[in-house]
Amino acid sequence: MSRKELWSGRFRKQLDPAAKRFSSSPEDSSILKFDIAGSIAHANGLRRAGLINDEALKCLVDGLRSIYASYADSSSALLHGEEDIHMAVESRLTEMYPSHGPRLHTGRSRNDQIALDLKMFARDGLLRLAEHLLQLEGVLLKVSRRHVNVPLPGYTHLQRAQPMYLSHHLLAHFWRFMRDIRLAGALFDIINSSPLGAGAIGGTGLPLRPSYTAALLGFEHTFENSLDATTDRDFALNIAYLSALISLHLSSLAEEMVLWNTSEFGFVSLPDSLSTGSSLMPHKKNPDIAELVRGKSGGVIGELVSAMVTVKGLPLGYARDLQTVKSPLFHAVDETCSSLSMMSLLMDGAGFNRKKMLQSASDELTYSVEIVDSLVRNGMPFREAHSSLGKAVSASVEGGKKLEEVVSGLWPGMHFPSSPLEDIEMRSSAGGSSLSSVRRQLDAAADAVKSSRNWLSSCRRRVSKVDRLLGLK
Ligand code: ARG
Repeated sequence: MSRKELWSGRFRKQLDPAAKRFSSSPEDSSILKFDIAGSIAHANGLRRAGLINDEALKCLVDGLRSIYASYADSSSALLHGEEDIHMAVESRLTEMYPSHGPRLHTGRSRNDQIALDLKMFARDGLLRLAEHLLQLEGVLLKVSRRHVNVPLPGYTHLQRAQPMYLSHHLLAHFWRFMRDIRLAGALFDIINSSPLGAGAIGGTGLPLRPSYTAALLGFEHTFENSLDATTDRDFALNIAYLSALISLHLSSLAEEMVLWNTSEFGFVSLPDSLSTGSSLMPHKKNPDIAELVRGKSGGVIGELVSAMVTVKGLPLGYARDLQTVKSPLFHAVDETCSSLSMMSLLMDGAGFNRKKMLQSASDELTYSVEIVDSLVRNGMPFREAHSSLGKAVSASVEGGKKLEEVVSGLWPGMHFPSSPLEDIEMRSSAGGSSLSSVRRQLDAAADAVKSSRNWLSSCRRRVSKVDRLLGLK
């Protein structure tokens, strides 16, 4: 016979064991730390309001910290047979301190409690994502510097378009991830408000002060509306969206690594330690890690959709459906962090084949834009120059002649780029592909990383209050 639920007063029968299994929350093992820190803050709030005495506060805090110390690495054991983490912690605490444990939940509901736990997870998740993003950014910067002036073709429609440097190409990925970090920063500000004190739905009649517990937990704000605070899961959707966006960016980079690693492209050779072989074909070296990063991005997008569809159409006020938003949130963050860290390793270990890239970048047809620009510089209207070059390219392709030859026949004395470098160097506009533009870009990228690092450390300091409450610092 299982133990009575903490809410069982109103009921004549115990919860059906199958219903209990169905409704339990095993995924709560991811939020033990936050649940306990929130309870320690709440116990302090109760003391401040005169609702418990010093002795009770000490016992509650000691008990909660010792539960954390015992179960931090085995929270599933604590959850076993319990409805959720809130019940599991309170039951264990009450076993330890039978006269003080039952006072902990005063003035609090599991509705504000779970919203608080998830906000703390979300805050921590944002910082973990940002940390992994910065690690990948560092690798992309390093590889870009190493190959700052190595040309390869730039593509549109996956057709050779204009040559550029590998650094410029990799930095395009860098800026995507930088926007992700900036989005994480904006979300951190939005998320940084504590729902503790909102009660079940309408606040509390006891003299508790939400701003006091919010400050203890390192939150900047509290809520304006208790009903909104308990129902709000926008923060979970926002983080799932950020994770999905990062995953899209990762997937695009992974796809290029898969493509460039083919014999047909041959631009990159992925490290042995991150490649796998075939069980049948001895010669194979497969880019499985990049493929998995690409594949797992689909799952993360799925988590976003799953969370959105779950909250769609829910009325205000807590409904148990909200319990099912937790797994998508946890998975989205965890999967994205592990893909980010695999991608950092992959990019760090990738070997770039300069010769092969130079060879492909030396396709003279891709210099055609530069010839158009030369004609324009000499006064020809752009449309006329574009159309003339189009005809020249067609004469070259159809007549089996070099474009350079056709161009010098049409416009004697016209300068034709002798190498991809010469073509690339013409585009020295801001953010363009020339070496001087790329060097400016590298400086801006390094500055952006530095300011993101500073932002991350200040957030970490703020959030470390949680560790202090747990007695870890
Ligand atoms: N296990 C629940 C969840 O994860 C906690 C809140 C339960 N509240 C309630 N009124 N049943 O969402």
